[in-house]
Amino acid sequence: MTSSATEDSISSIKAEALERLSAATDQDSLERWRVEFMGRKGRLTGILRNLGSLAPEERREAGAAANRLKGELEAAFEAQSALNKRAASSAPTDAIDVTLPGRKTRPGRLHPSTQMIREMLAAFNEMGFQTVEGNEVELERYNFDMLNIPADHPARDMQDTIWINRERVGADGGILMRTQTSPMQPRTMEQQDPPVRIVSPGKCFRIEATDATHEWQFHQVEGLAVDEGLSFADLKGTLYEFARRIFGADRKVRFRCDFFPFVEPGVDMSIDWNGRWVEILGAGMVHPQVLRNVGYDPEKYTGFAFGVGPERVAMLKYGIEDIRHFFNNDLRFLSQF
Ligand code: PHE
Repeated sequence: MTSSATEDSISSIKAEALERLSAATDQDSLERWRVEFMGRKGRLTGILRNLGSLAPEERREAGAAANRLKGELEAAFEAQSALNKRAASSAPTDAIDVTLPGRKTRPGRLHPSTQMIREMLAAFNEMGFQTVEGNEVELERYNFDMLNIPADHPARDMQDTIWINRERVGADGGILMRTQTSPMQPRTMEQQDPPVRIVSPGKCFRIEATDATHEWQFHQVEGLAVDEGLSFADLKGTLYEFARRIFGADRKVRFRCDFFPFVEPGVDMSIDWNGRWVEILGAGMVHPQVLRNVGYDPEKYTGFAFGVGPERVAMLKYGIEDIRHFFNNDLRFLSQF
């Protein structure tokens, strides 16, 4: 045997050994591979044994190459063996251990926002308000124009509104994620004549830098009543009664002047929270222009509207310190309700 013949067989053994090794995916075939190539009568051992028949120079070279191959094959063998073990331990098994103790199934429950919304709707339903639902994707016309929100109002700004299609032309304007549930006011009035008495819950979206009291998604419950002879006293009576039902009879309530383009006058209502006033809703008498926009005669009809944030209400009622908890889907939070 010559040195170059030995080199040939070393590289061909290497190629064959590595190819066969990658197919040895169970411990039995891996063991057969080990015996064939590395065993006492194996092919590599055969080469090592034959080195003695070479001339001294050739022997040194071929011996080094054969020993290098030995190291490589040993390492490859270990790697394949580890791979096989890992695959075996993660392979699914059909066996079911019937001796394991049973685990209690956890019943599902309603999301705290949903619970709060239902409680609020129930309060208004009992006062004669009917629930209607709207769409989260809304036309610019209903979210803004019909509500007397002029084109240059900051609420339309890119910073506040998530637009689906802003470039769309025509009377309906662009398409957006509604920033408030108030579009349900003109949508409802367009569909029916007075008297109107509705509440409309749903999700709203705004581009917000989130913090403990601001989220880019949140719920509102809109309210609207339109009839002959409705006054600000009706607005206050309705919202006092709402606060009484949600927070109890003793809770202090405060109205302050506020501005919304679709009401006149406009107010916000705050709840006493350990000596601090916390705003939970905006409200006001429906603006005559909004009534005209839907074809109602503002000389004949008046109305009031309000928009409550159920997450805000729940935060006050249950002492939740961060509005972001509502949308994090963390069971440690959700399972407390
Ligand atoms: N839509 C207003 C807001 O999102 C709240 C509101 C509703 C105010 C109805 C007045 C009347 O801030």
